[in-house]
Amino acid sequence: MELKIKVFRYDPQRDEAPEFKEYKLHYEEGMTFLRAFHLIKEKYDESFSFRHFCRAGICGTCTVMVNGFPKLACKEQVLPYVLFSNEVVIEPLANFEVIKDLVVDNEAVIERMRSFRTWVRGVQKEVSIPPEINRLIEKGADCILCSACQSYCPQVLESGYAGPLFFAKLHRLLADPRDGQREFRLKEALEMGNLYHCLSCNKCNNVCPKEVEPATLIRELMVFKDG
Ligand code: SF4
Ligand code: SF4
Ligand code: FES
Repeated sequence: MELKIKVFRYDPQRDEAPEFKEYKLHYEEGMTFLRAFHLIKEKYDESFSFRHFCRAGICGTCTVMVNGFPKLACKEQVLPYVLFSNEVVIEPLANFEVIKDLVVDNEAVIERMRSFRTWVRGVQKEVSIPPEINRLIEKGADCILCSACQSYCPQVLESGYAGPLFFAKLHRLLADPRDGQREFRLKEALEMGNLYHCLSCNKCNNVCPKEVEPATLIRELMVFKDG
C-alpha cells in the first residue's frame, strides 16, 4: 500500500511562493503522520521542517492540519487515509502564522498565557482538596497546549477573544482552591478574554485530542460567573 501525501511547503529565506509538494511513501505497519514526515525528510528533502518532541501525544508540539482537521501527527494513524482517501493534504495549523513548512509561530499563545498568568497564584497554604474538587481541576489539567482547539475555533479570528485553550486553563485555575485569584480570573475571562463571545459551536470539543472539552468548560465558566 502507498500513502500519497501533499504537504504545504514554504521557506521565507528562499523568496519562493508557498506551494504544495506531493510525496509517495510505502505504508509501514503502525505508521503515523510523524513517521511519514521523517521519511519525507530522509528520502526526499532534508530541509523539510516540522515540530515534535515526545512522540507520545503528551507534549502537544506536533499538531498539524490533516485534510483540514487539526491532529497530533505522532498519534494520527496513516492507515485509514491509505485505505479510504486518494490523497492526504497536510498543512500547518490554521489561525497561526507560518514560520517554515509545518512550523507555526506560537508566540501569541505564549504571550497571552503570560498576560493571563496561567499558573496558580496567591497560593493558600495547607488547603485540602477533596476528590470532587480534584476531578473538577483535572478536567482542564489534561490540556497539553497543542492548540488544536485554537486552530479550529471560528471565534479566535476576533482579536479580543482569548479562545478555548485559555478558557480551559482559566477553568482549571478557578476550580483550584489553592489559587487565591478567583474574582480576578473571572474578570480576566470576561473582560480580557470576552468569554461570552463563544459561539458554543462545540468545534473545539470535537478536535481536542485529550478530551478536555473546552466548550463544555466554557459553559461551566459562565455558571462559575453566575454562581
Ligand atoms: S465552542 Fe466557543 S471556543 Fe469552542 S470552537 Fe466554538 S466558539 Fe470557539
Ligand atoms: S484544550 Fe485540547 S485541543 Fe485545546 S490546547 Fe488543550 S489539549 Fe489541545
Ligand atoms: S510529539 Fe509530542 S504530542 Fe506529538
